[in-house]
Parts: sequence; C-alpha cells; structure tokens
Amino acid sequence: MYYPFFDVPKIGGGMLIAVVAILHVVVAHFAVGAGIFTAVAETFARRRNDTLLLRFLQDNSRFLILFAFILGAVSGVGIWFTIALVSPRATSNLIHCFVWGWAIEWVFFAVEIVAGYCYYYTWRTVSPGRHLAIGWIYAVAAFASLFVINGIITFMLTTGRFFEERAAGNYDAAFWAGFFNETFWPSLVLRTLSCLALAGIFVCIVVNLSRRYTREERTRIINYGAYCLAPFALMAPVSIWYFNNVPEASRRMAGGGAIAMTLFLAFGVACSVMIGAYAYFALIRKKRYVSLETSLLLAAMALVATGAMEFVREGIRKPYVIQGHLWSNGIVDDPAEYEPLMRAGILSNIPWIVDPKDAAVADSKTRGDWVFRAQCIQCHTVDGVNGIRHLVNYDRDIIRNDIEYLHVRKTFMPPFVGTEREKADLAEYLYSLNYSARDRGYRMPNEDPE
Ligand code: HEC
Repeated sequence: MYYPFFDVPKIGGGMLIAVVAILHVVVAHFAVGAGIFTAVAETFARRRNDTLLLRFLQDNSRFLILFAFILGAVSGVGIWFTIALVSPRATSNLIHCFVWGWAIEWVFFAVEIVAGYCYYYTWRTVSPGRHLAIGWIYAVAAFASLFVINGIITFMLTTGRFFEERAAGNYDAAFWAGFFNETFWPSLVLRTLSCLALAGIFVCIVVNLSRRYTREERTRIINYGAYCLAPFALMAPVSIWYFNNVPEASRRMAGGGAIAMTLFLAFGVACSVMIGAYAYFALIRKKRYVSLETSLLLAAMALVATGAMEFVREGIRKPYVIQGHLWSNGIVDDPAEYEPLMRAGILSNIPWIVDPKDAAVADSKTRGDWVFRAQCIQCHTVDGVNGIRHLVNYDRDIIRNDIEYLHVRKTFMPPFVGTEREKADLAEYLYSLNYSARDRGYRMPNEDPE
C-alpha cells in the first residue's frame, strides 16, 4: 500500500520539490507566454511589414529553443523524479485519476515541441503564411498543455465533486468534475498572466543580449513586450477570485493562520503589481527603454512572484497532498485505511524502512526514528527546514501529548497513526533530539536523572 520515499538531508523532500517545481513552472510558463507573444507579434508584424519586429522574433525563437525547451524538458523530468520519490502515493493517485488527462497533455506537449522546432528552422524556407501558421500551432498547443495540466494541479487543492462521483461509480463524470474544479478558472487566468509577464521580460533580456539592435530599435521592441507585462498587475484581483474558491481552512491559512503563507502571498501580489504598473506607466505610456540589468531585476521579481504563488498554493493544502483525501504522509484520510494501521502499528507496514521482525525487537528510540521517517519526514527534517529538534524542547510527557494532538495543535499536520507503543517510541526518539535545556543543565520537573 505504500511506496518508498527518500530522505533529503537539510532541506527535506518538500523543499526539494518546491525548488525543482518553481524552476520548471517559470520555464514552462515562459514557453507558453512566448508562444502567445510570438504568434500575435508575427501576425502584427506581417500585416504592417515590420521588418525589425520580424528580425527580433527570429532571434527570440532561438532563445526560446535553447532556454525553454532544454531547461523545461530537464526540469520537467526532474519534477516527475522528485515527486515520485517524495510523494509516491500521491503521484500514483494523480496518474490513476487522470490517465487520459496526462495522455492528452503529453500529446499537446509533443505538438508544442515539434512546432517550436519547425518554427525556428523554417524562417527562411517556408512562405510567410505557413510560417505564421506554425507559430500559431505552437502557441495553441503550448496553451492547451497548460490548460490540461492546470486541471490536474488545481485538483490537488480543490477536488470538485470528484470523490462523490467516483464513489457513485460515475467514473467519466468524476474525471470532469475533478478537472473543472473550483479553482480551475481563476488558476488558469493567474497562470496565463504569469506566462505573458515572463515572455515580456524575456523580450527585454533577449533584445539587450544581442548586439544587432540600435538603442531606438531596442526601445521599440521592449515597448511591444510591455503589452505582455502590463496585465501582470491583474494578479491582485485574480488572486482574490482564486482565494474565494479555495477550501475554508486553506483560506484561513493564507489570510493569517500560517503567517509564512500570508507573507509569501503578500510578496507575490506586491511584486506582480509593481511589475505590471511599471510596464504600463514607464514602458507603454512613456515608451522608456529597459537596460539588461533592469530586465534581469524584473525577471528576478517575476521569479519571486511566481515562486511565491506556487509556494502558497502548495503550502495551504496541508495536511493534504490531495485535499480531503490523501495526507502528506501518504496515508488516506479514511478510517477504513487508518484504523487497521492504528491497531497493527505503522512499523509493521513500512517494509522499505524496516523489516517488521526487526522492529519488534528494536529499542524504543530506534523504533521512534523509523516512525519519524514514516510519518513526519515529509514535512520535517531533523535540523534543517522545519527542523523538528527545536520544536521538541520539552520532556517526554509533553512531547507525548504533542504527538497525541498533532492535528489539533496545528491543523496543517495530519493526526498520528500508530499504536500507543509507537507514540511512546516516537516521543522517546524526539526527546533524544532535544538539546538546549539539557545542555544548560536543566532538569524538567518530572525528568529522570540520566
Ligand atoms: C503535512 C506536513 C507535516 C507533517 C506530516 C508533520 N508536521 Fe509537524 N509541523 C508541520 C508544520 C508546518 C509545523 C509548524 C512549524 C512551526 O510552527 O515552526 C509543525 C509543527 C510541529 C511541532 C510543533 C507544534 C507546536 O505546537 O509548536 C511538533 C512537535 C511537530 N510538528 C511534530 C510532528 C511529528 C512528531 C510529526 C510526525 C508524526 C509531524 N510533526 C508531522 C508540518 C507537518
């Protein structure tokens, strides 16, 4: 019933996924946004016979292939690799719930990549009309792949009526209910804004990296790019729309319940509004020029904004990987699953961590370490990100009590699943980590002298 996961030192598995995923999201969003920008800009340039813009689009398409396709493909495989190792059960669940969704997404992705390469290599070899058509195929396929993946990713936070339909045996209806869930549309708009903004910023970077443009030419191209960038300011109202559709508990977390999430959200929205306002007032209205350094600064801000929003989306889902269904620790939130585990014990069900026979005879602290690996390591490291050591500076009884009420004390933790003995084992292990009080020679009131 479980699958193995691996232990990532210091930063923990969740943070590893976050790093790889944010890199991938930025690159993939850029690829989609650049597709839309390129198709629209080429249409516009052909109509007006704007040779400067055409020359730039050709340069930009090389950059698109080198940067987006290669980095995008590598980081995309990276995501599958990390999620399958850190959250194997969730990965498997998502694949099973949306088999055809993934298949459709991969077809669009393949079309996007093939069209992208054709677009780059046929600038001089096919007629303008054909070339433009290839550009539009690229843009539509890229956006379609975003459309499909958006349904699957938003499902993790808002599941629509998926589980009700599935329980009733309506599998087709379940697919669509889960796909077009509560946050599908606001999230699609948010992502599209981010795609366009990234494409707009890359226009500024690419034009500055090439020596072939005069200052006036650069300014003109950058002012075109700004039309992609200005809508980024709409992140603020669209985020409100989005958060009106997330579950109550998640909204509370974003709205102050988990202060880290609130701050990330605030930084993300602030960055987007500043970039959008700058694009509108400075670039579109005043037709200003942007240097390479400023473009890189804008790119860094857009990275922070996109990364922060992704982080919030992942964070406010806790304690679930799939809202209301699967906890982060890979156990299903259903008594039919966790009650037997509570009776038999978690240690007899995690063969990839420990052989149940060894678990039966090990000392309490070692058993506790295994329990920790089974149920806590998805969100805690020992000393690094969300390190447990400084959270358990208490005596055994208090730690034991904490374990009993994990999900009550912090609603973003799943409840502990295991036997009374395993709770004591985990408490023993966590107690062995605790340092400062004892280092300073204190004894807790009811602590045994050691
Ligand atoms: C879904 C992610 C997740 C899982 C799984 C998880 N925790 Fe946590 N836990 C957190 C977060 C986030 C915090 C908040 C840390 C902070 O406030 O600095 C936290 C805080 C705590 C605290 C401090 C509570 C307090 O009131 O200050 C303890 C103790 C703790 N966790 C123990 C555990 C143990 C033991 C396990 C495994 C049985 C576990 N956690 C599993 C996410 C998780």
